[in-house]
Amino acid sequence: MAGPFRLIYNIREERGLEKHFAVIGDPIAHSHSPEMHRAGFYVLSLEAEYQRFQVHTSNLKEAVDGLKALGFTGWNVTIPHKEKMAELVDELTAEAKRAGAVNTVKHTGGRLIGHNTDGLGLVRSLGVDEKSLAGKEAVILGAGGAARGIAPALAERGMHLKILNRTPERAWELAEGIRAWGGEAVGGELAPGAWLESAFLIVQTTSLGLHGEPYPFPLQGIRPDAIVVDIIFNPWETPFLSEAKVRGCQVQNGLGMLLHQGALAWEFWWDSAAPLEAMDQGLRAAVAGRTVSDERKTKQGADPD
Ligand code: ATR
Repeated sequence: MAGPFRLIYNIREERGLEKHFAVIGDPIAHSHSPEMHRAGFYVLSLEAEYQRFQVHTSNLKEAVDGLKALGFTGWNVTIPHKEKMAELVDELTAEAKRAGAVNTVKHTGGRLIGHNTDGLGLVRSLGVDEKSLAGKEAVILGAGGAARGIAPALAERGMHLKILNRTPERAWELAEGIRAWGGEAVGGELAPGAWLESAFLIVQTTSLGLHGEPYPFPLQGIRPDAIVVDIIFNPWETPFLSEAKVRGCQVQNGLGMLLHQGALAWEFWWDSAAPLEAMDQGLRAAVAGRTVSDERKTKQGADPD
């Protein structure tokens, strides 16, 4: 680094003004979190940087020790490390405990606090009054990592959950975990049925549709006033979402959830409101950049980040 740039760099480092953030996962190249957070840093003129690091599972503990030693303020965690990260932090928030997974870590006072913003991110993305969800029925399709983040947040808001999965044992287990702390949830097998008719909210969390494959059964009987979310956003609209749209439902892909989980992580790290509009713009630009070329298109979807 030369001349005045070096000087500016040194001043920042010496004063310790620059904050460092990251997202870690494997694979990680597809993550849009850096562009989303950097847009926020830019608009608020914050001295901060956000990087992506590919970390193999066998190196996770060393990577966390390294981030801590280097003084990173916080990091996001994505596939496949969310569950393991919960074991590597000093403290878990209530959200992380209920999800059994961590997608956001804050490093403060020498301690690591593990949090989970996926579920509330989904709730915020719906754009409805959270209180209005109480007592209504939600169907979650899938019982994998993404469903485990989302289901507790919906149950905490008083929604009655039906969790349906190809392997019903995983759905039963997830529902049982929610009932254990007083939430309302039942599990079952992913199959056509009457569940469609009573659902106010349907959240599709399986990887079905990532490659454009149709949903295995028709959405006949779905309520036309249902809110239908598919957490995949590449492709932008899965066949599942297209069919729900044709049937008159209010549909949305996973981009809103990604934005809001990022905004909640921002609030957790900075203790102040996130610059949502700038983050949204940064995210959309990144997604557009990624999707113009099919060669650069990588797996995105079942995990929103
Ligand atoms: P993630 O963390 O992204 O949720 P995951 O934990 O591997 O990933 O879960 C993937 C989800 O997609 C699971 O609910 C899985 O169902 P199973 O538990 O039966 O494996 C679901 N899924 C994947 N492929 C599917 C398919 N072809 N049909 C139905 N469900 C499928």
